[in-house]
Amino acid sequence: MEKEKFYITTPIYYPSNKLTLGNCYTTVVCDAIARYNKLLGKDVFYLTGTDEHGQKIAGKAKDAGKTEMEYLNEIIADAKELWKLLDINYDRFIRTTDEDHVKVAQHVFTELYNRGYIYKGSYKGKYCVPCEAFWTESQLVNGKCPDCGRDVIDQEEEAYFFKLSQFGDKLLDLYKNNPEFLEPQSRVNEMINNFIKPGLSDLCVSRTSVKWGIPVPFDKNHTIYVWVDALTNYLTGVGYLSDDKMFNKYWPADVHVIGKEIVRFHAIIWPAMLMALDIPLPKKVFGHGWLLFGGDKLSKSKEVASKECVDPRILAPRYTADAVRYILLREIPFGSDGSYSTEGFLNRINSDLANNYGNLVSRTLSMLKKYNQSVVPSYKDSNDPLDKDLINIVLTEEQNAKNYMKKLDSSKALTSIFAMFSKANKYIEVTEPYILAKDPSKKERLDTVLRNLIETIRIGTIHLSAFLPEVSKKVMDILGVEAKIGEPKFYDMKEGKTLENCPILFPRLDVQKELDELAKL
Ligand code: MSP
Repeated sequence: MEKEKFYITTPIYYPSNKLTLGNCYTTVVCDAIARYNKLLGKDVFYLTGTDEHGQKIAGKAKDAGKTEMEYLNEIIADAKELWKLLDINYDRFIRTTDEDHVKVAQHVFTELYNRGYIYKGSYKGKYCVPCEAFWTESQLVNGKCPDCGRDVIDQEEEAYFFKLSQFGDKLLDLYKNNPEFLEPQSRVNEMINNFIKPGLSDLCVSRTSVKWGIPVPFDKNHTIYVWVDALTNYLTGVGYLSDDKMFNKYWPADVHVIGKEIVRFHAIIWPAMLMALDIPLPKKVFGHGWLLFGGDKLSKSKEVASKECVDPRILAPRYTADAVRYILLREIPFGSDGSYSTEGFLNRINSDLANNYGNLVSRTLSMLKKYNQSVVPSYKDSNDPLDKDLINIVLTEEQNAKNYMKKLDSSKALTSIFAMFSKANKYIEVTEPYILAKDPSKKERLDTVLRNLIETIRIGTIHLSAFLPEVSKKVMDILGVEAKIGEPKFYDMKEGKTLENCPILFPRLDVQKELDELAKL
């Protein structure tokens, strides 16, 4: 039987500077969703990459005394290293400077023009001469250029426009008929009230003043507006124009996961472009919240200025990729904003990873060694309410985790998975295997208790492997189980198998000492 496909994308990041922990958030969330869908047996395609055109990048390269490509290649190499460091398992890293993408962006532009959706007009705006950039009135800061703070002048240039104004009603129908197209629901109201109801204007989709961009194929004085160029990456990534078989298999995307500030590009401009092209729309756009740092969005410039260490390139090698992934996935309620602090991060490592999960695994495996020579014991179906309660919670939380992941909510799914581990730790306290072990007549009961613990670890760890792949692999290797979510089944371990002992998974941290040391870095 052919596997169900699942195509997920992150936004493509601006490589104007090194990527931040904020950018890691979207990428890690998508990675966990992609991995989880693989566990469910789907044929997953995960696309991420970089959005490389525009005046800002050209300016950065110039300031650094480099060509655009030299500047970009360094940042892209760093981004790929970062994704390796965080165990990001993407299927393609797309760059908008890739040859196949340039072709797609040009084709889309020409096709929209041929279909009568793009026309030539003139663009009036506020222009900053040194920055060579147009701004709208609302982007100016105290009437000056928001980038350099200098005076701007009124300027007019010839430009192409996309007839976005024709799509208001079609978009309203889309949101109404497909309530799952844009989530969370609050973003739909935002789009309708802030953009569609006041009336959509046609969108300027070319510039003559921006040189670092993809040329309009039939009018080479113009380059294609970066957002039109960038959005089409989602088509290029799965073989549009280059591999029909692949494109027909993966398109439409199952979900574009993006930050809330770029929802309007994905929920207004992008579906309008696709409707004009007669290409099916993505099934879902999900606008997530921000990782806040002291109440602010963690941006590329602020991170540099901040005193706390928020560099994933330092945090991941020091505390493991899994720990960094965990804090990003767990701390931000999906769809809302969430606060990050180093202290919160370190406390979570101690409470959830070391004390809850790590401790459960190491206690269970060392009891198994001590009381049963590390051999997986048989079990006896009992009417013991303690067993029933454990099994019931594990199977219920497993189903909850699945349901949450269907809604893309990793934070809640992790809460469910960790509820299984907390329950198992409590189960040890109430069943007291160390007391049972003292009485040979209780051997059968002891075996069942140990077996119940191992099965709970097995089920929880398989689910956890989408979120914390490194530590889960260690534990799944010890248990000898496959990373696969099938039909719910509590007893599934091979009896009689000898399990190896487990190294300490997450050493307990001295939070104050760590904070002091990080502050010195
Ligand atoms: N290049 C565009 C996207 C084009 S997609 C066709 C862009 N790039 S970006 O680098 O500025 O941002 C990329 C993503 O990173 C956005 O989804 C943004 O929300 C996310 N984040 C950047 N900082 C963030 C936080 N502090 N918290 C959560 N996500 C944040 O926009």
